[in-house]
Amino acid sequence: MLGCLTFVAPFSPSPLLSLHRFSPLSVPSSPSGLLKFASRRFSITATKAESLSTMAVDAENVGSVKRQLAHLFEVSLRTTVPSEPDIAPLVEPCAAKSGVKFGDYQCNNAMGIWSKIKGKQAEFKGPPSVGQAIMKNLPPSDIIESCSVAGPGFVNVVLSRNWIAQSLQRMLIDGIETWAPRLPLKRAVVDFSSPNIAKEMHVGHLRSTIIGDTLARMLEFSHVDVLRRNHVGDWGTQFGMLIEFLFEKFPNPEDVNEAAIGDLQTFYKASKVRFDSDPEFKQRAQQAVVRLQGGETRYRDAWKQICEISRTEFHRVYERLGVHLEEKGESFYNPHIPGVLEELNKKGMIEDSEGARVIFLKDVNIPLIVVKSDGGYNYASTDLTALWYRINEEKAEWIIYVTDVGQQQHFDMVFKAAKRAGWLPADDNSYPKATHVGFGLVLGEDGKRFRTRNTEVVRLVDLLDEAKNRSKTALLERDTAKEWPEEEVEKTSEAVGYGAVKYADLKNNRLTNYTFNFDQMLNDKGNTAVYLLYAHARICSIIRKSGKDIEEVKKNAKIALDHEDERALGLHLLQFSEVVEEACTNLLPNVLCEYLYNLSEIFTKKFYSNCQVVGSPEEGSRLLLCEATAIVMRKCFYLLGIVPVYKI
Ligand code: ARG
Repeated sequence: MLGCLTFVAPFSPSPLLSLHRFSPLSVPSSPSGLLKFASRRFSITATKAESLSTMAVDAENVGSVKRQLAHLFEVSLRTTVPSEPDIAPLVEPCAAKSGVKFGDYQCNNAMGIWSKIKGKQAEFKGPPSVGQAIMKNLPPSDIIESCSVAGPGFVNVVLSRNWIAQSLQRMLIDGIETWAPRLPLKRAVVDFSSPNIAKEMHVGHLRSTIIGDTLARMLEFSHVDVLRRNHVGDWGTQFGMLIEFLFEKFPNPEDVNEAAIGDLQTFYKASKVRFDSDPEFKQRAQQAVVRLQGGETRYRDAWKQICEISRTEFHRVYERLGVHLEEKGESFYNPHIPGVLEELNKKGMIEDSEGARVIFLKDVNIPLIVVKSDGGYNYASTDLTALWYRINEEKAEWIIYVTDVGQQQHFDMVFKAAKRAGWLPADDNSYPKATHVGFGLVLGEDGKRFRTRNTEVVRLVDLLDEAKNRSKTALLERDTAKEWPEEEVEKTSEAVGYGAVKYADLKNNRLTNYTFNFDQMLNDKGNTAVYLLYAHARICSIIRKSGKDIEEVKKNAKIALDHEDERALGLHLLQFSEVVEEACTNLLPNVLCEYLYNLSEIFTKKFYSNCQVVGSPEEGSRLLLCEATAIVMRKCFYLLGIVPVYKI
């Protein structure tokens, strides 16, 4: 199968073998570009025999309705147009047209097939007849209740209620992990957060931390081994200045500690003032950089002390956010830079330009500087080396960088260089691949870059404090919470406050700027974490109030979806897996947020408004629907890095 791939991996191909496990039918959802991607992958990676052999394995992927339908349509396509074995099924959930839906899912292959076979297969007179044939050739299956052909050959599928109900019941027994998507890769690097030592960790880093953590969680859930990398800026000329300043302030290294130094940012600013105003200090600082890079013990030790203090500060934020990261800072890659540049040089990629060493890249009007005119390395040389390391040493197949959109060109150039070097294939849809996940600015309510009243930058710790305190005040205004033990109040206000900050960020398309507004994010109505967390708590309380042991109900009751709102809820629950797959494939956490919000709306406004749960003849089945909703909601919360609450 590897022979069918369009590139030869520059390293041992073993991670790529994972592609075997995936059916070419692993079609990413919706945007049309991705559909093209799907059919392309199909054509380069599979033959008919292979796709059939992968079917059994793909059956592991029981969670995805879309994939299961795609299997059925694939069988039909092979019979309908035997002359076109490379056509992949295009299956999507149906969108409502003027409020009417013709089915739950739709197969959209007819028109594409018609344009390929026109005149070749006499039995077809146009796309509608191709659609009819696709429908007729579908193998029998208990998934489908009925099918119809609409317009230019769209095949609409109505899913069987029974099958939806059984799938939910099975998930309740086997666990939601059985609904985890399978992605065609084994290992990924997510490079996120990555603040700079001694400089402020600003809201941009907060966004990177929140988005990166969610992407990592979604990939991990999808069975990918994720290396969560904190690429901290722990190297660079600023360290000369910091170290000299440290020597001045603390002639005795033993006196250096966090308490003595205080806030590192203030320390940084003071050293900068000294640097700018005293030429003699400046000179010493510049020499300090050289001595640090030369490895002199005293300088290395001072550098380590500064990094350690910074690390403790960062760690406090990560701990509160529940984010886990593994630090491999810029300095880690230093020893590898000369070798990597030598390799690029041998490939004829590096040129001299105004005293610097640079790489010129196609369609980019500025060169990528890899050695500065003073002989030093820079951000780009480090990133090129880190990318080389991640591909070749760590064997990552997908390397994801989460930073503000301002760094897009930098990454674009680094990736282009890596392709030219042959580390990455030219085709963006093949693995290994590198992706820059950009995000917009955080704005204040004045529409300008987010700042607080009196400080220039917003300290993340203050921000989290405020979110927590505000949610605590709101919580204590509720009668129920007044009797809660202090610890519970604390925990709930943290879950709600931090959850609100995260969700407000994640629910937007990450590329857009977003306005930071406490009142909005802490509102208990509308699309906020507060609303969602409360909705979840309410579902838990319905189950509690029934007085039934849900584990017993699982054993004894059977889900039935007779009411149309029960069916709508059941179907939405079942779409969890394909939504996570889409959010992962396109690196868009907002897709999952939207799903979660809709789930909560369908539960509250449709199901719970129209279907009595406790005390009704359908109580058992409906309690199971409540439980399934709570389970799916909790998994969404988990993937979004939000701690659920069970009580309000
Ligand atoms: N330290 C950088 C900054 O604060 C972000 C680093 C992102 N990662 C990378 N591999 N360049 O802007």
